Amino acid sequence: MKITKICCIGAGYVGGPTMAIIAQKCPQIQVTVVDLNEERIAAWNDEDVDNIPIYEPGLSEIVKEARGRNLFFSTNVEKAIDEAQIIFISVNTPTKTYGKGKGMAADLKFIELCARQIAKIAKDDKIVVEKSTLPVRTAEAIKSILDNTGNGVQFQILSNPEFLAEGTAVQDLLNPDRILIGGDTTEEGQKAIQALVDVYANWVPTDKILTTNVWSSELSKLTANAFLAQRISSVNAMSELCEKTGADVNEVAKAIGMDSRIGAKFLKASVGFGGSCFQKDILNLVYIAKSYGLHEVADYWEQVIIMNDYQKRRFSNKIVQTLYNTVADKKIAFLGWAFKKDTNDTRESAAIYVADDLINEQAQIAVYDPKVSAKKVLADLDYLETRSTEKNSACVTSFDDPYEACANAHAIAVLTEWDEFVQYDWQKIYDSMQKPAFVFDGRNILDRAKMEEIGFVCQAIGS
Ligand code: NAD
Ligand code: UGA
Repeated sequence: MKITKICCIGAGYVGGPTMAIIAQKCPQIQVTVVDLNEERIAAWNDEDVDNIPIYEPGLSEIVKEARGRNLFFSTNVEKAIDEAQIIFISVNTPTKTYGKGKGMAADLKFIELCARQIAKIAKDDKIVVEKSTLPVRTAEAIKSILDNTGNGVQFQILSNPEFLAEGTAVQDLLNPDRILIGGDTTEEGQKAIQALVDVYANWVPTDKILTTNVWSSELSKLTANAFLAQRISSVNAMSELCEKTGADVNEVAKAIGMDSRIGAKFLKASVGFGGSCFQKDILNLVYIAKSYGLHEVADYWEQVIIMNDYQKRRFSNKIVQTLYNTVADKKIAFLGWAFKKDTNDTRESAAIYVADDLINEQAQIAVYDPKVSAKKVLADLDYLETRSTEKNSACVTSFDDPYEACANAHAIAVLTEWDEFVQYDWQKIYDSMQKPAFVFDGRNILDRAKMEEIGFVCQAIGS
């Protein structure tokens, strides 16, 4: 089948960048990204490409090149579905906040809405692609909805999970480690798989395009995130032991990472992993295991989350203890609020939880993040519902200038590993702070010896 029109439902962190790359690499295909969120679509269409809603290095240039040529952003979901041969579903699949599976299972209401809408609109055969991260066997539910509410046309459902990481999305999409496509073993299923393989083959070497059955593909995505997060919780668990024993977690990570069976990547001890997916996907995996009665499997993976929560709490406790057991009315400067560098995304960022703990201790938090707005910082705290908006805004102030954020502070906490933090004039910062001037490096990015020479009292993770 020759693909000329693709539609993607969901213009978020995955749908936007992924479709921008497909459009750039396949000028013969018209790619339309649709979303119900009018504000988000308007931002994607903003004349000034620097105002697109997602900050990713290199993304605005690609949008500039393809937008209006073969890349379109629209709120007209029905038209885009009607015209497309391939429909990607890339909507959010957050943890359920209500009912059965609350706090664990993935909320699939947005997925079901998409399936029902596709069924209603489609007047010819369609390939429907699960791009969102979904529980294993979701394709079965989608198929049932499509076949029972559709207009008698044929649907093929493929699973094509996305493995990009935020902050490096463009590079990850341009040079993926692999593209995974799961589909039916029937002849029709194999044809659908081939149609999608042909799209990716425009820029991805075919030996990197892996095809499997649908269930393996769905489960591989949850498994990949669980393994990645497990490495961080493992190294973070070791970080506490390092602090007690005089070992240095960076040295330990380097030593074990040189074993080619372990590998050097993803072994950075930190204040805890954040982001919209690791926690959500592991909780989902735990829920699925439990629902099959596999309690040992569930407990095994749940420990990754328990360790991560502990690491965040340990960091805030350490700040309070070191500051003579009270941070009440003390200014604590936060360098970074995003869950990692090079993104404006703050979902599940460790900074939110550390701030929440410190506000409980009546600290005054001063935030500087190069890409996160004051409005977002407050919204993140409000989302926790620990206290009223008024109380949160009385305890947190955002600054556009890092030196102002740090002036008069009793302590600085580094929550995100933005490169610029390393370059600051730390003598100037030291001079402007209360003494002793404490630094808690939650990302192990600062040169401790240099900082101590200036006069800072430093604490890092795992040393
Ligand atoms: P997001 O919240 O940034 O974007 C989802 C978008 O879908 C929103 O703009 C929302 O308005 C829209 N939407 C929801 N229901 C809709 C509907 N019925 N019709 C039209 N639009 C609708 O989410 P995201 O970060 O892009 O994640 C999307 C999926 O991809 C999730 O399942 C996530 O687990 C997965 N994923 C995310 C990442 C990542 O780095 N963020 C990486 C890999 C996979
Ligand atoms: C992660 C995966 O890396 C992607 O492959 C996956 O597609 C994505 O989740 C998803 O499914 O959403 P992302 O969350 O964007 O990507 O970013 P990561 O680079 O994985 O970082 C996640 C968190 O772990 C960040 O808070 C980061 O600071 C932390 N981290 C990462 C560490 O603390 N140590 C490390 O060694 C690596």
